[in-house]
Amino acid sequence: MQTFASSITKVFYGTLIHSVSIKEIEYIKQGLLFVDNQGKIAKLLKNVAQDKVDESLEGVDGDKLVRLNHDQFIIPGFVDTHIHAPQYTFCGNGHDLPLLEWLDNFTFPREAKFVDKDYARSIYTKTVARSLRHGTTSASWFATIHLDACKELVNIIQEQGQRAYVGKVNMNQNSPDNLVETTESSVRDTRAFIEYVNQVNASLDHKPLVTPIITPRFAISCTSELMTELGKLATEYNLPIQSHLCENQNEIGFTMSLFPNSVNYTAVYADHGLLNDRTIMAHCVHMKEEELDLIKEKNAGISHCANSNFNLKSGMADVRKMLSKDIKVGLGTDVAGGYSPSILEALRSSRTCSVALNADTTLVVAELFYLATVGGARVMELEDTIGNFVVGKEFDAILVNTAVEGSPLDVFGHDCIETQFEKYLFVGDDRNNEKVFVQGKEVRLPASTVASRK
Ligand code: GUN
Ligand code: FE
Repeated sequence: MQTFASSITKVFYGTLIHSVSIKEIEYIKQGLLFVDNQGKIAKLLKNVAQDKVDESLEGVDGDKLVRLNHDQFIIPGFVDTHIHAPQYTFCGNGHDLPLLEWLDNFTFPREAKFVDKDYARSIYTKTVARSLRHGTTSASWFATIHLDACKELVNIIQEQGQRAYVGKVNMNQNSPDNLVETTESSVRDTRAFIEYVNQVNASLDHKPLVTPIITPRFAISCTSELMTELGKLATEYNLPIQSHLCENQNEIGFTMSLFPNSVNYTAVYADHGLLNDRTIMAHCVHMKEEELDLIKEKNAGISHCANSNFNLKSGMADVRKMLSKDIKVGLGTDVAGGYSPSILEALRSSRTCSVALNADTTLVVAELFYLATVGGARVMELEDTIGNFVVGKEFDAILVNTAVEGSPLDVFGHDCIETQFEKYLFVGDDRNNEKVFVQGKEVRLPASTVASRK
């Protein structure tokens, strides 16, 4: 019979930091966190004195205990609610161009290369590893239109152990000849992709981490007929949906010229059965009041991609307003509109954006950390599964070490856990992510992108 002690695979002792509400970060000192063989947080004790740890283990083997030192703490893994897997190849390029020109000149030619499945495998292997390296334990990925490459992305994410939504992108109009589908092939391949992921998931001996997501690129690249079919597929297979919305003025103008029967851009998606409580809309920079109200009415989520919105000069999304309407908001890196796959970078850009919009109503640290973790989990409908250290949730986490040589966090030491943590958020980087866990399992990390460790 399985006892509590035998069900436990790992116990962590030390400082744990998580978001308990949008207003509050909890700093748990001398925490004792038990992870079970389902990858769940089985028990969490607070303020356990050093000399009480052994007796608090309740019979769990001492070799399962990981004791954190003074420079280490554990936080929930980050949630990247919007990232393009094929675009990691050109992070940092082309930002002199605005969105539509950037898509034509940088994005589409590079995405066309993913017709080659071996190329896709080599790029996706590195991309997913880098995302994990930066502490992203859950991500909502856009792939490309290519079925075989999409399957590779799913295989790689399974192999590396990230929690993910993966979308086969749909494009059947206003797209280059080498990156376009017919309505029929787009629907057929989307169905085949969903069936593939479901089949892979059925063969697993653990709770699946990958979910297919319906992914019309944006209304410009999808006909009304295709969007209607995609809405039906989302209903038939009960799947989430993701797309882009109100990112840039020229994009909005072009969209409204294509869909004159809809009252606004947000309504274009609603009119095609693509806006509901499982939808993630990226950007939402130039939203009219009634569009935000429609998002709220449908209980859709927003992925705030501030880094990308600055790079592509798209504008600044008013997160304070979204939050005041109680809309679900998470952060997105939007690689490669965003130049970094790090949610820490997304968090920093989000702060800058909120300051530039209104210095009196800036997003504060507790809110930013919430958006990067619990907020993202809500947008991905994972709030009952991950986001913070509530007993019964799955253990997706980063073990942070602030004393890594060469990291700026190391230079002056720290006076208290609050300032140490804040420093990590604003000057830390992937060197400080010593270990990353998804569903209780440690994932294998590549070397830091910043510098090699001594
Ligand atoms: N809108 C349509 N496609 C894209 C894309 O790949 N990146 C961004 N940022 N916006 C888009
Ligand atoms: Fe995007």
